[in-house]
Amino acid sequence: MKKNMQELLSKNEEKISKNSDSILNITEEEIASTIKELGTKKTERIIVDEIKEKLNTEYIGKEIYCFQEVDSTNTVSKFLAEFGTDEGTVIIAETQTKGKGSRGKKWESPVGGIWLSIVLRPDISPSKASLITLAAGVGVANVLRDLGVDARIKWPNDVLINNKKVSGILTEANAKFSTVDYVIVGIGIDSNLNIDTLPSKIQPGTTSLKEELKEDIDESQIIANFLVEFEKIYNKFKKEEFDDILYDWRKMSQTIGSYVEIQQPLGKKLKGYAVGINRKGALILEKDNGNLIKVISGECIIKEDK
Ligand code: BTN
Repeated sequence: MKKNMQELLSKNEEKISKNSDSILNITEEEIASTIKELGTKKTERIIVDEIKEKLNTEYIGKEIYCFQEVDSTNTVSKFLAEFGTDEGTVIIAETQTKGKGSRGKKWESPVGGIWLSIVLRPDISPSKASLITLAAGVGVANVLRDLGVDARIKWPNDVLINNKKVSGILTEANAKFSTVDYVIVGIGIDSNLNIDTLPSKIQPGTTSLKEELKEDIDESQIIANFLVEFEKIYNKFKKEEFDDILYDWRKMSQTIGSYVEIQQPLGKKLKGYAVGINRKGALILEKDNGNLIKVISGECIIKEDK
């Protein structure tokens, strides 16, 4: 982790990169405060002051750090979380060199997307942390629907428009025994991406807001709207009002009612009708033999037919 941060610093801060000996001598606390300092410098496309002008939240986005380029906003957030940064701190990057997707996949993060992470410190048991992913999915889908698109959620963490992925969410929790120290929720939204700039393999299943709406997207507005929406939903989460969140999730779900294949680690595949989602965020599948099973994780592929 320290090495990654030093790479970030050396890229951005000439005075540090000039003298590599001094890098080796700086403490992690100093790195954390230098990251914050770098994150308050003006970036090209995403203007933090514009986001703040539109933000009427209580604590989400009170501190925002924005970078031209980082390896992953989740990694930077984790580092800051380790050094006590407040709940609600937001890290944004215009590009990520090592954007992280779910199940260890790479997340393509070129210029033209919204790549951000939020540091959370919920007082919950680790088993409930996965519901934050669902809550964030509801937040993204609500914000995109307000733009006039029919955003739907694919279990567990994708937001789709016309069956193509426009957003993904990666939640990473740091839990000690039965308590959660912090949770990082990382959100990627393909806002102004031209899909033909992405690797050809992922192009058919991917879309962007610009492609769907045929116009340029105001990223500051989307970020501000999302942070406002997320704070409302996260407050419900903290009060354990899970039914409300799950109600909205189910309403916007693309998964429930579909025949799906769940690809699990080690190559195991499960098939069946997705009939529901339980209070812990697990998907309920009705298998071909009629048995109901609970699926906690895996990649969900919606099948056209059985
Ligand atoms: C997925 O659908 O596979 C999850 C994608 C999550 C991507 C976001 S972009 C901001 C944050 N930083 C990362 O490295 N990943 C998340």
